Parts: sequence; structure tokens; C-alpha cells
Amino acid sequence: YSIEKVVLSTWLQNSKYTTILTGAGMSTESNIPDFRSKEGWWKNIDPRTVATTEALRNRYDLFHEFYSMRIKGLENCSPHKGHEVLASWEQKGLIQAIATQNVDGFHTAAGSRHVYELHGSIHKFRCDNCSFSSSKELFLTKVACSHCGGKLRTGIVLFGESLPETNWNSSLEHIRKSELVIVIGTSLEVFPASSLPQMTDGRTVYINYEMNDNRPKFDLVIKGKAGEVLQQLEEIL
Ligand code: NAD
Ligand code: APR
Repeated sequence: YSIEKVVLSTWLQNSKYTTILTGAGMSTESNIPDFRSKEGWWKNIDPRTVATTEALRNRYDLFHEFYSMRIKGLENCSPHKGHEVLASWEQKGLIQAIATQNVDGFHTAAGSRHVYELHGSIHKFRCDNCSFSSSKELFLTKVACSHCGGKLRTGIVLFGESLPETNWNSSLEHIRKSELVIVIGTSLEVFPASSLPQMTDGRTVYINYEMNDNRPKFDLVIKGKAGEVLQQLEEIL
């Protein structure tokens, strides 16, 4: 095992309070595309044409097409070993919380309990006009809201929208209290999630496949795949 993984395993064992921050790279080994790597969503689509409130209001067909594709793409995907390792670390008291930018619900599905979804959830649906809650089936059939005739949308936070207040505050509180923050599978390109790692006085670790100009800010950097690295750390612990 690399020295970095051995060092991280000792930091993990000695830390009294550890928070994890994950992004789309945490789910690519579950066959869910990320956004900004070469096979990511934003390589072929400009997010501003589909993932914004402007798209929802003015280009509903494109908006609906994009999120329907993501919903269907999720149907035969499931959490991988890396999600399960994080859930077992919470059970053992090794980590205290996970803040995630992911909307797939895989941390919770794998058994993690203290999970804060910063960008909402693809499993929730509501009317954009009256906020009446709706369902995947109704959204996919592209019907109007049965309550007010408005447009149905997923519970995913769109560019330009603010994050869910409670999840943001809880994440910030955990990060502030942490002696160790481990960031996994995110390009840290999107604000304000990207500002979380620097909010801790503790040690910060970056586990990511592609290296970018964010890494100098971290105490320790491990280049690799989330699922593989987490399984190797589990073997060392
Ligand atoms: P922003 O300006 O913070 O982010 C815009 C992002 O879109 C940038 O990070 C940029 O990397 C990306 N982007 C823009 N054009 C792109 C292109 N052509 N190719 C690839 N990437 C491109 O966004 P904002 O309007 O300030 O909104 C930020 C808020 O939206 C935050 O609260 C954030 O949590 C939320 N959000 C929603 C989504 C979503 O897709 N569902 C994604 C991220 C953030
Ligand atoms: N293991 C580790 N890292 C990985 C893996 C993997 N198996 N697969 C991909 N990565 C890395 C990529 O190299 C990339 O740097 O994960 C990072 C994913 O970054 P993005 O695609 O930008 O995803 P993310 O950071 O989560 O995007 C933030 O932008 O569009 C919005 O709502 C969307 O929440 C998302 C936000």
C-alpha cells in the first residue's frame, strides 16, 4: 500500500471527529456518469441549457429530457463497495457524517445514516409552481401538476438556486467540528460546496481520479478511484 494510504488510516483512527465530502466521482464506479471528466455529462451538454431554473421555465422539453434520461440511467445502478465501506466506518464510529453533492441517494442506500444532500435528490419530485409533491411516474409521463397545472421537476438543486438550508448548515457544522475532512470524487468546481473543505481547522485529504489545481490546498492527496482506495484503506485499518 502507498505511504499516503497508511498515513490516512492512522489519521482516521486517531481522529475524534471526521467528516466526508463526496461528489459525482463517488458514483462513477456504480456506472453513473460524473459531470466534468472526459465522459461526464457536461462534456456534451452545457449545464446552462438543462440544469438551470431558466431551462426549467423556458425549455421544459429539454429540461424534462435531460432529467428523465438521468432517472432512467439510475434504474439498474446500485451503490458499490466504497459506499459500503463508508457506511461501516460510521457504524464503527470512525466517521461522523457525510456531506454529498450527489443526488443518487447511494450513501443512504448503502447504510450511512448521517448523510446531508447539498444538491437535493433525484428521488424527489414536486411542482415547480405550487411545490405540491409528485412522483417519478408522473414526472416521467410529463403530465402537468394535478393540483395547479404547473410544471413537475425533480428535487435536484439547479444552478442559480440556493442549497437546502438545513443540509448546508449541518454540513458546515460537522466540517467545523472535524479534526479530519476527507474529500472524495469531486472537481470542487461548484460553489458553495467547494468551499467546505477549507472551513475546517483539522487535516484535509483529497481522494480523486484526476488531479487539478485544488490539490495544493490539501494536507494529503491520493490519486485513485474512490471504490478501490476505500477498499484498500479498509484492508489497512
Ligand atoms: P455556479 O456558477 O456556481 O456554477 C456553474 C457551474 O457550471 C460552474 O461550476 C461550471 O463548472 C459549470 N459550467 C457552466 N458552464 C459549463 C460548461 N459549458 N461546461 C461545463 N461546466 C459548466 O452555478 P450558480 O448558478 O452560481 O449556482 C450554484 C448553485 O447551484 C449552488 O447552490 C449549487 O449547489 C447549485 N448547483 C446545482 C447543480 C445542478 O446541476 N443540479 C449543480 C451544481 C450546483
Ligand atoms: N474515483 C475518484 N474520483 C473520480 C472517479 C472515481 N471513480 N470518477 C471520477 N472522479 C473524479 C473526476 O476526475 C472529477 O474530478 O471526480 C470528479 C468529479 O467532478 P465533477 O464531475 O465536477 O462532479 P462534482 O464535483 O460532483 O460536480 C459538482 O456540479 O453539475 C453539478 O450538480 C452537479 O453536484 C454536481 C456539481
